[in-house]
Amino acid sequence: MILITGGNGYIGTEIAKILLKKREDFRIMDNLSGSNPLNLLYLNRIDFFWGDVRNDEDLRLAFKDVEIVIHLAAKLPTTPGLLDKVEEVAKIEEINYSGTLNVLEEARRKDTTLIFASTCNVYGIGENISEESKPNPLNPYAESKLEAEKACIDYVEKYGMDIKILRLASVYGFSPGVRFNLVVNYFVLRGLLGYKLAVFGNGDNWRPFIHVHDAATAFLHLIDNGKRGEIYNVAESNLRIIDVAKTVKKNVNPQIDIELVREIKPEFSYSVDSSKFLKTGYKFRHNFESGILHLVEKLKSLKSQKI
Ligand SMILES: NC(=O)c1ccc[n+]([C@@H]2O[C@H](COP(=O)([O-])OP(=O)(O)OC[C@H]3O[C@@H](n4cnc5c(N)ncnc54)[C@H](O)[C@@H]3O)[C@@H](O)[C@H]2O)c1
Repeated sequence: MILITGGNGYIGTEIAKILLKKREDFRIMDNLSGSNPLNLLYLNRIDFFWGDVRNDEDLRLAFKDVEIVIHLAAKLPTTPGLLDKVEEVAKIEEINYSGTLNVLEEARRKDTTLIFASTCNVYGIGENISEESKPNPLNPYAESKLEAEKACIDYVEKYGMDIKILRLASVYGFSPGVRFNLVVNYFVLRGLLGYKLAVFGNGDNWRPFIHVHDAATAFLHLIDNGKRGEIYNVAESNLRIIDVAKTVKKNVNPQIDIELVREIKPEFSYSVDSSKFLKTGYKFRHNFESGILHLVEKLKSLKSQKI
């Protein structure tokens, strides 16, 4: 049995969709704080446990008969300004770091394999960064993920646990729990609705990207591939934000404008090298353009559905 913590979210619902198709046994644990409960209805026939990774008793119950854990539950940054709020930062720390410690402890007790969802955001600034480079987390979210990574490595070294860490690029594309507060999906939505795309600075800052289906299969791939205690960058492409906007304009709606908001300087610019992950035998299904076209097709088909 596979347990997906935070499984009702954007990536978790895509993993669930794949596991349902493969008829594999899995359970979702989620406290529904950061995702729409309707996602669960979309994914009917699932074993769902309403619980919080900050609660030991919830974890004890959710881990029943579990052999593999995909640990996605996290508090993601919402609006950048909110990251300055003390309560927001405390919650990020509590869920992403302390919550991961609880998951690690339960995984150790039950002797399960664990795949941990970290982020390429831990790098902050740099080009073509490999896993060997020193991280430079520039916000509380990235810091919490880096601290949680260190705890994972600690558990591998102390207890010999089977843990792998995936530093994931920015995700885009359609899943049963698709979110639109991520740059690519947000641009696609605006494009479809005929609104201009605002790009900060000159838009020459880099970001790594991955389609949500590939993100989901990357987690599943690492269950049986890769080495314990290792960290893997997982990005299909690295693009400048201005090129993201241009690709969306070209493929979604050539009529819309791209506006450069020069007075706002982008916080980060980083591109990553995923060759270590590719050496484990993984192949991406989507490239950036095909992923966008797939999202547009899905959104258009939903638009034509009767309510
Ligand atoms: N989406 C991305 O671009 C991206 C990029 C890099 C890394 N990641 C990482 O991948 C993971 C999944 O991301 P996502 O985009 O699916 O996020 P999401 O916000 O869509 O899903 C996270 C889920 O965790 C649940 N959750 C939050 N706090 C919880 C708690 N205390 N106990 C139990 N469940 C809780 C939420 O309800 C939500 O369903 C996260 O750990 C995230 O940091 C995501």
